[in-house]
Amino acid sequence: MIELDIRGADSKVIGNENGLNIAEEFENYKEKIAQIISDLYSKKDTAGAGLQWMNLGYSKETSWYVKEYASLIENRFDNILVLGIGGSALGGLAVTHALLKPYWNMLSKEERNGYPRIFFLDNIDPDEMNGLLNVLDLKKTLVNVITKSGDTTETMAQYMVIKDRLEKELDDDYRKNIIVTTDIKTGILRQISEQEGYKTFVVPDDVGGRFSVFTAVGLLPFTLTGIDIDEITKGIRDIDDSLQNTNIYENISAQNALVHYLMDTKLGKNITVMMPYSQRLKYIGDWFVQLWAESLGKNKKLDGTELCTGSTPVKAVGATDQHAQMQLFNEGPNNKLINFIRVGEYETKLDIPRIFEYTGIGYLGGKTMNDLINAEADSTLASLIDYKRPTVTIKLPRIDGYHIGQLLYMLEIQTAIAGALYNVNTFNQPSVELARNYTYGLMGRVGYEESAKTLHKKMLMV
Ligand code: PA5
Repeated sequence: MIELDIRGADSKVIGNENGLNIAEEFENYKEKIAQIISDLYSKKDTAGAGLQWMNLGYSKETSWYVKEYASLIENRFDNILVLGIGGSALGGLAVTHALLKPYWNMLSKEERNGYPRIFFLDNIDPDEMNGLLNVLDLKKTLVNVITKSGDTTETMAQYMVIKDRLEKELDDDYRKNIIVTTDIKTGILRQISEQEGYKTFVVPDDVGGRFSVFTAVGLLPFTLTGIDIDEITKGIRDIDDSLQNTNIYENISAQNALVHYLMDTKLGKNITVMMPYSQRLKYIGDWFVQLWAESLGKNKKLDGTELCTGSTPVKAVGATDQHAQMQLFNEGPNNKLINFIRVGEYETKLDIPRIFEYTGIGYLGGKTMNDLINAEADSTLASLIDYKRPTVTIKLPRIDGYHIGQLLYMLEIQTAIAGALYNVNTFNQPSVELARNYTYGLMGRVGYEESAKTLHKKMLMV
């Protein structure tokens, strides 16, 4: 199981000014936390509560559908291209980057055990998109369009460009190269899919984009690239037992949510840094940034009080960021809580050869890269303690589907508990909608003329 160590946030370690008296806070908050957890779990099947993602580890249906489809199309495609943005892309990107062999897309088909390469197009940069289209053989590419709402401008524009190119290359057969993951009933893409006859998968009701990684949004690309999704869902189910526990002393999501909440609201540590010591976990940082930011960054509490809440998530990677952001983390404003993610056992043991023995780098010979990255993580933690900077550490025994499932689910539950502590609506994103409407107006979508007018007025002001 993954573990959490919060001692680096304790006042006993970093002093009263910057640390929390964790024992006292656990006592103060144990009832509130118990109430939050029991509310979350008792409401998870309530329509409109936005909590269906809490059932995904148990859902056999989606796994069955995606596996069936994967077996039907086995060996037909060399590439998977995912079109999507935000929650429709980041979970897939994070998990495939963590679980597929490094440099997957550069490996031969044999080295990939016959599975296809995978690309995520989660932006609308014309240069990047054109560049990708220049290197992909679309005839051998399965395009998975993912959008819960079914009308996100960025994803729809990508889809339109690619559908047009596919049609030119494949005539009527192009439809076999497009699959869609979207809402079961609503949205423009659902209508188009029905007209076009695409194979479709569902983003279930009450699962918001940033909580959708364990729906077909993630499970389909994972299965298509040979990732064992049963291992992932088993990991979720196994950790769920402890995350349902209303006792804060036994629930790591609750502990981390409380530490983050109090660090922000009591001690002004309103930046949370996600820093895995693993390149494979790099995009877990991106996924977490969206989860934490969109869920907690709100200007109104559930009781109607107007108050801007949320701590700003920042991504970093060890050891790389020791040479980029660590100077700021150590000596800049003491307003950050740093989340280390440590890996117990890397898949590879890489020896550093005994060469240059009589020079200043001779000490490295005979050690391993594994020794080095661990020593660097320990040293960085020690330096943060010296500077009285708060830290928490999440420990992953290994990077595999079982533990990645646990990590992501643990962070989702942590976010839901933090949202309840802040007393905000964790599951909406009104400001994203506002900007979307301005874009619709600017791009001439019928019905959004007022948005365009308001925007033009604002542009004249700046
Ligand atoms: O978390 C969310 O709901 C959002 O970030 C969405 O994932 C993002 O806006 C993309 O939306 P959609 O999946 O509807 O295209």
